[in-house]
Amino acid sequence: MNTKRAIAQILRHLSARGVTHLPRVIPQAVPARPTAGRPGPPNRPVGGAKTGPAATLSSTSPPASGARSPGALFSKAEIDGHGVARPEAHPETITITSQSFESAQEKTEALCAVAGLVAQCKRCEQLASTRKQTVFGVGNPDARIMFIGEAPGATEDKQGEPFVGEAGQLLNKIITACKLKRDEIYICNVLRCRPPGNRTPLPQEAANCREYLDAQIHIVKPEYIVCWGSVAAQNLLNEKRPIGKLRGQFLEYRHLDQDDIKVLCTYHPSYLLRNPNAKTLVWEDMKLLMRDMGVEL
Ligand code: URA
Repeated sequence: MNTKRAIAQILRHLSARGVTHLPRVIPQAVPARPTAGRPGPPNRPVGGAKTGPAATLSSTSPPASGARSPGALFSKAEIDGHGVARPEAHPETITITSQSFESAQEKTEALCAVAGLVAQCKRCEQLASTRKQTVFGVGNPDARIMFIGEAPGATEDKQGEPFVGEAGQLLNKIITACKLKRDEIYICNVLRCRPPGNRTPLPQEAANCREYLDAQIHIVKPEYIVCWGSVAAQNLLNEKRPIGKLRGQFLEYRHLDQDDIKVLCTYHPSYLLRNPNAKTLVWEDMKLLMRDMGVEL
C-alpha cells in the first residue's frame, strides 16, 4: 500500500473510533529542507581515532545482535532497557514507522494520525485524568532540528503547545540568539501530558509515551536532536549519566532503521531560570550545534 493510502486508512480508522482532532483539509506543505543540507551518517573510523566533526561523537552503544534499540517499537508489551514494561504499540504507529515520509505534507499527515492516537491515550491513568489536553508537538514537520523537553507544564496544558510558559519564553530567546526561528524547529517532550504539580515523569509514564516520541522522530527524521535537561537526555539515550556529563558533545543515536542522528544534550531552560550561571554552558552547546550545522553566529 502506498503511503498516502495508508495514512488515509489510519485517519479513517481513527475517525471511526471517535477521534475529533484530525485534519479535514490537508495542510499546506511547508518549504522542504534543502536536500544538500542532509549529510549521511558520520564517517567515523571503527575502533580508530575519531577525526573531524565526528570526533566528539560518542556512541550510545548500538544494540547487540538480537537486542532492541532504545527506539524500537514494541509489537507486544515488553520490558524496555530501563526494566520498565512498554505497552504494546498501536497498529497505526507500527504501520507508520514501517514507512518513510519524504514531503512535508506526508509528514504532516502522519504526525496528525499519531496526534489523534495521543489525544485518546489513557495509558497513564493519573495523567489522563488530570490533563486539560494532550500536548503533542509543534513546528516544522520537516525540520533539521528536533527539540525534546521533559513534559508540559501548566501553561502548555492550557494551550496545547510545548514550551509556551516561562521556560518556553527563555527557549525562544535561545532560538533567536541562534539565528533560528521557532517554526523552523520541531518541538516536543518526553511526555505528552502534564504530570500533576509538574513532578518529574515516572519511568512507566516515559515508557508509555515512548512510542509516540519514536513515531515523531521517525516521521520528522531530524539530523539533530537537542535534549533539554536530564529527563529528555536519559530517556532518549537510555543513559544514566547526569546532564553535566552528557552535555558539551554530540552523541550518536540510531533511531529504528534510520541514519544516525546527532544528539546534543544541555541544561533545561527551567534549570537556567533557577541557575542563570549555567547559561554560559548552554550557549557553548548551542555554538557547537550551530557550527556543526554550518550556521555562523
Ligand atoms: N518544560 C518542558 O520540558 N516542556 C514543556 O513543554 C514546557 C516546559
